[in-house]
Amino acid sequence: MEIVILGGIRQIGRLAADAIEHLVRRKPDAVLGLATGSSPLPVYDELAARHERGLDFSRASAFALDEYVGLPAGHPESYREVIRREFTDRVNIAPENVHGPDGTATDIPAACESFEQAIAAAGGVDLQLLGVGTDGHIGFNEPGSSFASRTRIKSLIEQTRRDNARFFTSLAEVPHHVITQGLGTIMAARHVVLLATGAQKAQAVRDFVEGPVAAICPASVLQFHPHATVLLDEAAASALK
Ligand code: F6R
Repeated sequence: MEIVILGGIRQIGRLAADAIEHLVRRKPDAVLGLATGSSPLPVYDELAARHERGLDFSRASAFALDEYVGLPAGHPESYREVIRREFTDRVNIAPENVHGPDGTATDIPAACESFEQAIAAAGGVDLQLLGVGTDGHIGFNEPGSSFASRTRIKSLIEQTRRDNARFFTSLAEVPHHVITQGLGTIMAARHVVLLATGAQKAQAVRDFVEGPVAAICPASVLQFHPHATVLLDEAAASALK
């Protein structure tokens, strides 16, 4: 695991964008794995600015990490909408090349399976962006998730619902279930780039970087990834030894 401690969120955004730009220039039909939440927003801003200056995503494709279950299609907080608004509408990725788990499906296991098949058909994810939860979750793989897990439905723990309530008008509106890529799915990406900022992430960062690899801290599985890059600000890195 490669740990990079940077001066702040803008530098983190630029370094992650450098990795994506390098990938897309080397492999124009790159497959990007996209996360939602606050952490990747500076990356998307930076990539949108680079697209204005000519960075071409026309042959790239993208897969979202996760999706709420039960939000109606087009709900502004559905991750499909967030990804569209924050990133894919701001660059020239073809909309038909942007994929996410279908949180409106009546047959959720079938939707999970077809999402996994779509990733495989695209040749697998080249670079997966990740944030990390205060409890060490990645995607919505909460503590206790199997390291071998694939895309599936999960219940959100209350802490994560509370963490995400800031995007909704009330806690009651935050869905209880999500579809998430599994830890096994995430580990199959060829390069994983995790971003974390702020003191509230310091303990989770310490646990997954320096603690034991254990299901209680899902992000710790990244210690086994052959190419994992962790971009931190000083506050998020402050509990590292
Ligand atoms: C988002 C996701 C989550 C977030 C995590 C951190 O698609 O899967 O794992 O990355 O909850 O969220 P932020 O970045 O908002 O602190």
